[in-house]
Amino acid sequence: MATSSTKKWWKNAIVYQIYPRSFCDSNGDGIGDIPGIISKLHYLKDLGVDVIWLSPVYPSPGYDNGYDISDYKDINPEFGTMEDMERLISRAKRLGIKIIMDLVINHTSDEHEWFKKALAGDKKYKNYYYFRPGNGKKSPNNWGSFFGEKAWTKTDSGEYYLHLFSKKQPDLNWHNPEVYDEITDIMRFWLDKGVAGFRCDVINVIYKDSLEDGKKHFALTGKEHYLNTEGCHELLKRFNEDVWSKYKTFIVGETVMVTPEDAKLLSDENRKELDAVFFFEHMDVDSRGGIKWFKKKYKPYKLIRILDKWQNALENPANYLENHDQVRSVNHFGNTGRYWEKSAKLLCGLNLCLRGIPFIYEGEEIGMTNGDFRGLKELKDIESYNINQAMRRLLIINAIRRKLILQTTRDNARTPVQWDASEQAGFTEGIPWLKVNENKSFINVEAENQDPDSILNFYKKMIEFRKSSSAITEGSYRRVASPSDVYLFTRESDEERLYIYCNLTAFNKPVEFYGDRIIFGNYDPTDRDNFVLKPYEFRIVASNI
Ligand code: NOJ
Repeated sequence: MATSSTKKWWKNAIVYQIYPRSFCDSNGDGIGDIPGIISKLHYLKDLGVDVIWLSPVYPSPGYDNGYDISDYKDINPEFGTMEDMERLISRAKRLGIKIIMDLVINHTSDEHEWFKKALAGDKKYKNYYYFRPGNGKKSPNNWGSFFGEKAWTKTDSGEYYLHLFSKKQPDLNWHNPEVYDEITDIMRFWLDKGVAGFRCDVINVIYKDSLEDGKKHFALTGKEHYLNTEGCHELLKRFNEDVWSKYKTFIVGETVMVTPEDAKLLSDENRKELDAVFFFEHMDVDSRGGIKWFKKKYKPYKLIRILDKWQNALENPANYLENHDQVRSVNHFGNTGRYWEKSAKLLCGLNLCLRGIPFIYEGEEIGMTNGDFRGLKELKDIESYNINQAMRRLLIINAIRRKLILQTTRDNARTPVQWDASEQAGFTEGIPWLKVNENKSFINVEAENQDPDSILNFYKKMIEFRKSSSAITEGSYRRVASPSDVYLFTRESDEERLYIYCNLTAFNKPVEFYGDRIIFGNYDPTDRDNFVLKPYEFRIVASNI
């Protein structure tokens, strides 16, 4: 596999995702905010973070926690003011941390001025969206939305509008050049304020080829008309040429349902579209038929096969094991019982040793686990709400709905960050918008800061190690044969060759010992056997070359 070519500033960056609502609340209203983030910048610096990806902070009615934007050029008062945002950008800059913002341009909120004017009959703004007459008594086509409902909603005037997400999120019409001008203007607005790039929400679905009926699927009927279309590639090239290239940005796309071939086209350096993409195949390793609500047993060897495939496919893979839409990685791929700590450290080592750009999600660095919700009533997520309704329509009984939704709900990763062991985990002085996990008593930043062997301190050391290693930041990647469920690969530069061992199981695994000396790991050196990996053991072995 080729090593990285032309050097861009973000190539060796460690990116940390902040979900502002759940990060840190400074004013006691139970909702995280920008001053709260500012108060934790030194914590992030100390951890080794170079870039913050900030999930949406724009004004929004909040039906999808900010992924429904009602004004792209302002700040949601729940999170602070524009002055707060400017202060965040400049304080972070002083610490050498850049900020990338979430850019949600497949849809706006239905409470955006554009949509309100469109609903009032303004022709100009109607053409910002997809309004269509019904097909007899039915919707204009048979498409389904990502949140399990129909993709069309009828307005009072009898027309329908398209929304690939909730009905509170009408899709923008990217065939309209005025939409292009508006959105590129918004990008410049933020880049001029000093943000370093964007994480582009569901970017590979923005351009609809046609609005014809789709081939019938259990979920997402219609997708062949909007996934990775030529029109989308063209738009990305134009964004790049007209805006991004002028600011030396870092642009990472959230690209749903992509294959390695699709992803290559979207992020190939020579094509000048996106810098990197998030793929999802590893997230779906335990979903039945790609539907995350229906789980099958997680098999580590499948995860290894998928990660290896993507390591070989992409120039700059965006590596992540969790985010605000997924369950926590220790629940997904690790162990929340006896091996909680070992497995969290293993996942840290894995994520940080792969080729590409590592993304850490808030709380991952202390081993936060899924929410401990007692029932569906405690959930706040619109997706969980809609899926519950859809399952009801399918006559799925309450106990089963409860089980399926609680194990997969996005709220699992959205519980407040656990800063200390106090009642609300130091997140807020008020009532948190989403329940704090009881395990804050021992999973929290304060306690882990004091313990040299904590997950948090392991992250710090691993990040420092990564930054000092040319093999990890720039080297090639090659998988090495190993027992099933053990991920073994090399990272190699001109100066060093490293063997990375990851035992993804709760059992001992006999292995070959390659290389010369173990230089990093999650087990005590006196408690190690070169030829046996202990449960969830992670180790880096250096080899003289
Ligand atoms: C992907 C975002 O990550 C998710 O949180 C959101 O619900 C959808 N896109 C719609 O914007």
